[in-house]
Amino acid sequence: MNKFTCVNDLSNLDDALKLAFELKKDPYKYQTLGKNKTMLLVFFNSSLRTRLSTQKAALNLGMNVIVFDINAGGWKLETEMGVIMDGNKPEHIREAVPVIGKYCDIIGVRSFAGLKNREDDYSEKILQQFVDYAGVPVVSLENATRHPLQSFADLITIEEYKTKKRPKVVLSWAPHPKALPQAVPNSFVEWMRKTDYDFVVTNPEGYDLSPSFMGDVKIERDQMKAFKNADFIYAKNWASYSEYGKILSQDKSWTISDRQMAVTNHAKFMHCLPVRRNMIVTDSVIDGPDSLVIQEAGNRLFSAQTALKLILDQLK
Ligand code: CP
Repeated sequence: MNKFTCVNDLSNLDDALKLAFELKKDPYKYQTLGKNKTMLLVFFNSSLRTRLSTQKAALNLGMNVIVFDINAGGWKLETEMGVIMDGNKPEHIREAVPVIGKYCDIIGVRSFAGLKNREDDYSEKILQQFVDYAGVPVVSLENATRHPLQSFADLITIEEYKTKKRPKVVLSWAPHPKALPQAVPNSFVEWMRKTDYDFVVTNPEGYDLSPSFMGDVKIERDQMKAFKNADFIYAKNWASYSEYGKILSQDKSWTISDRQMAVTNHAKFMHCLPVRRNMIVTDSVIDGPDSLVIQEAGNRLFSAQTALKLILDQLK
C-alpha cells in the first residue's frame, strides 16, 4: 500500500482485518519492520486519540516518530496556487510539503474541513497536495471528507463485538452546539458499504450526507424506527451538506438516551470521541454496560498499526 486515505487504498479489506486482529494479539510481532524509518505526523488541528494511537502504532513497529503541530511553531502556510504572497502567510504548501517529505519515510496529516466552501473541502485540497508533493507515502489522520483510521477502528470493534453474522448497524445524527465536518460519518458510511451488515442512516431533514458517499444506503427519518432491533448504534453529529456547514437543528429529542436504546436489540453504543455528554448521548447510555467508546478508541492503535505495517511492507 502506498498511501492510506480511504478504504479503497486497501487491496483487501478482509486481509487488513485479519492483520489488525493479529497485531492486537501480538502488537510487537513486527517490531523491527520500521527500524531506521521515521513517521512524521503533521497536525493542522487538535487531536488526542489520533495523535497518541498513531505514535504508539509507529513505535510498536520500531519507527521513529516526529509530531509537528504546524500552527504552533511552523510558518503559516499559503494553500492557494497563483496568489501574490504579500499577506501574513510566509510559506507556500507547495514547498513545505516536499521539504517535510525529506525528513521522513511516511507522513500522516490531519486537516479538517473549513465548512465554508463545499467544493474546496470536497476536493481535499490540503490532503491532495501532501499526496502529490510529499514524495513519501501519506496517511490520513482525518481530512476534510474522511477519517479512515477511525472507520477502520470502528469496523474492527463491530467485528469484535458482533454476535451475529449480519448485525444491524445504525448511524444516527445527534445534536451538537457547533458545526462539525462530515468526515467521520462519510467515512463510516464508506466502510460500512464494504460489509454485508444491515446498515441504516438516520438523520433529520437537511442533514443527508453527500450522495457520493451514501450511494444506495437507506436513510430513515424516524430515529425510533431506525433503532428498532439494532445491534450497534453509532452516534455522530455533522453539519448540513446541502446547506453547507450550517447547523439546521439542535433538537435534543435526537440525543441518544435510554428511550431510543430500549427499542434496540441490546445495542452496543459507539462514538468516535471526543463526545459532548448530554448533547450527543446521555450519561446513562455512555456510562452503561453496552457502551464501547473506550474499546473503540483502543482499536485506533490497531487500525493505525495495520495501515503502517502495510505501507512499511512496500518500503522494504
Ligand atoms: N476520534 C478522533 O479522531 O479523536 P481525536 O480527534 O482526539 O484524534
